[in-house]
Amino acid sequence: MPSISIKGTLMPESPIRKLVPYAEKAIKDGKKVYHLNIGQPDIKTPKVALDAVKNQSLEIIAYSRSEGSEEYRNKIAAYYLKNDINITADDIIVTTGGSEALLFAMGCIADQGDEIIIPEPFYANYNGFATASGVTIVPVISKIEDNFALPPIEEFEKLISPKTKAILICNPGNPTGYLYSKEEIKKLASIVKKHDLFLVTDEVYREFTYDGETHYSVLQEEGLESNAIMIDSVSKRYSMCGARIGCLVSRNKEIIATALKFAQARLSPPTFAQIASEAALKTPQRYFDEVISEYEERRNTLISHLQKIPGVIAGKPKGAFYCIVELPVDNTDKFAQWLLEEFDSKGETIMVAPAGGFYSSPGVGLNQVRIAYVLNKESLIRSVEILKEALTQYNA
Ligand SMILES: Cc1ncc(COP(=O)(O)O)c(C=O)c1O
Repeated sequence: MPSISIKGTLMPESPIRKLVPYAEKAIKDGKKVYHLNIGQPDIKTPKVALDAVKNQSLEIIAYSRSEGSEEYRNKIAAYYLKNDINITADDIIVTTGGSEALLFAMGCIADQGDEIIIPEPFYANYNGFATASGVTIVPVISKIEDNFALPPIEEFEKLISPKTKAILICNPGNPTGYLYSKEEIKKLASIVKKHDLFLVTDEVYREFTYDGETHYSVLQEEGLESNAIMIDSVSKRYSMCGARIGCLVSRNKEIIATALKFAQARLSPPTFAQIASEAALKTPQRYFDEVISEYEERRNTLISHLQKIPGVIAGKPKGAFYCIVELPVDNTDKFAQWLLEEFDSKGETIMVAPAGGFYSSPGVGLNQVRIAYVLNKESLIRSVEILKEALTQYNA
């Protein structure tokens, strides 16, 4: 048989999706599964976005411009301006989800064997994008006991080598829910300027901040015009994960010109989804107020219930809708599979994402899981009850 590429063999499985066959089997066998593993919100997509697609009378679903339609990019620029980020349509490349923007960013800044420093745990698919791009991730460990705050600058500086091209952060963070402060962004800005690196920030959860805290974008930081690349997406902001629209934003003209070449190679982002995303920009503020207060309540419910289980440590997220939870088990890969295959509580079980895949350091995070609080409060309370019962049985 012809052989599979080394790159293909090295591509990591998604820790979020790899247990899906076990969940499907459990569901087929009649179990109810609470999905805490995936960031698929149960929040309704804004009606303006759905109506814009319903009311279309296109006769041809044509390609759009590779960089995204001009009208849409102008409106995205206006959205950023409202958020204190002063950029123009020319600084934006519309992509097929934030995922493609991340791939384009890696393609623009790194060659085979180049290194990108990322605080871990990090969004697991960074591993996949890095492998596909031939990039080596150099992790800098952020710790649950510090609630995943930015590691000290010296830790970054120790890791910078002649191959280092960038620092990549996710703000607010998936899977930690960590929200970087303005001071932390400034510290990162000083390192990237000193060492002439790119600073890539994944801001797809920008709106989701709690306890009255506000998000500080890398594009609000002055003096980073050449260094900053921001990744964005409509997936979570408007609960439009299936639209597959995101964007790459940078004031660095060479980055935009290079990203455009990647964009041209895949022709264009999806036409209908751009129509929906453009309309979604009309979503009233009260939609976000309601959604954010719903997530904040869910977070409080989840964390307070988790903290009552002996041996469980949960970091308190300040943004996004995930948290990393340490469990009193040796290997959460096995535990998560056991939950689906062997355990049930009155015909119900939970699906969690083992956290090992959110680290690139081998052997780290094996006793942790990521939980997404994308279910309503009653389901979250029931899920924690199931977890508590399962831990007692597993450790008996
Ligand atoms: C941190 C982060 N970045 C990027 C993405 C990619 O999102 P999409 O491709 O749906 O825009 C996700 C999706 O969950 C994410 O959590």
